[in-house]
Amino acid sequence: MSTTPAVPPGLVVAIDGPSGSGKSSTSRGVAARLGLRYLDTGAMFRGIAWWMLREGVTIDDPAAVAARAQEPVIVSGTDPAAPGITVDGVDVAQAIRGADVTGAVSPVSAVPQVRARLLELQREIIGAGGIVVEGRDIGSVVAPDAQVKVYLTADAAARASRRVLEEGGSDVGATQASLLARDAIDSTRATAPLVMPDGAVHIDTTSYTLDEVIDQVVALVQVVEDPA
Ligand code: DC
Repeated sequence: MSTTPAVPPGLVVAIDGPSGSGKSSTSRGVAARLGLRYLDTGAMFRGIAWWMLREGVTIDDPAAVAARAQEPVIVSGTDPAAPGITVDGVDVAQAIRGADVTGAVSPVSAVPQVRARLLELQREIIGAGGIVVEGRDIGSVVAPDAQVKVYLTADAAARASRRVLEEGGSDVGATQASLLARDAIDSTRATAPLVMPDGAVHIDTTSYTLDEVIDQVVALVQVVEDPA
């Protein structure tokens, strides 16, 4: 176990990458290790998608989604041990991981009005920093001045196997197809697509354990702290 570095004041660690690349576990682990807050922006997009489904909004109609984007009240927790999220006061932490929300979230998150709404909330939460933020556009759009930017990837087969283990499923092939379909939408949308941000350190997590990846990100914070 490596030592815990002193964290520079106002530190923002931006962690981007596709589904199943290890973003959530890595981000929570880094935040816990460094005593920082943690924000899961994917959960916010899932929360909006959950709300649109509940309201009966036609997900594939960008104008219909845009028209309602200001309405849901989203409250995101930032404790890496138990982040939590509520939408209109309902605890949706479990519901946003369901297949219906997973199927709706990429088209909903491609709608510019949804992104603008969440961008504002995300920047409010980031505030004066001291936080690890994970998503698809954190280092590129949400926090382009983040002192540490990481872009995580892994082989598609490894990503699918991890998801199946996490979610207790059995069909790795179907999970891999679903991941790749979401990657395609997330990477090709017009507004804030998934990209490797300028200045990001790329870590391919395929052959590393979670602890090894956390160690590598914590080491990047040490470089910021002690550049000599
Ligand atoms: O990380 P996740 O799988 O929970 O994210 C769910 C979806 O949210 C993902 O398919 C794309 C979208 N998303 C996004 O567009 N921008 C972000 N910063 C985070 C997630």
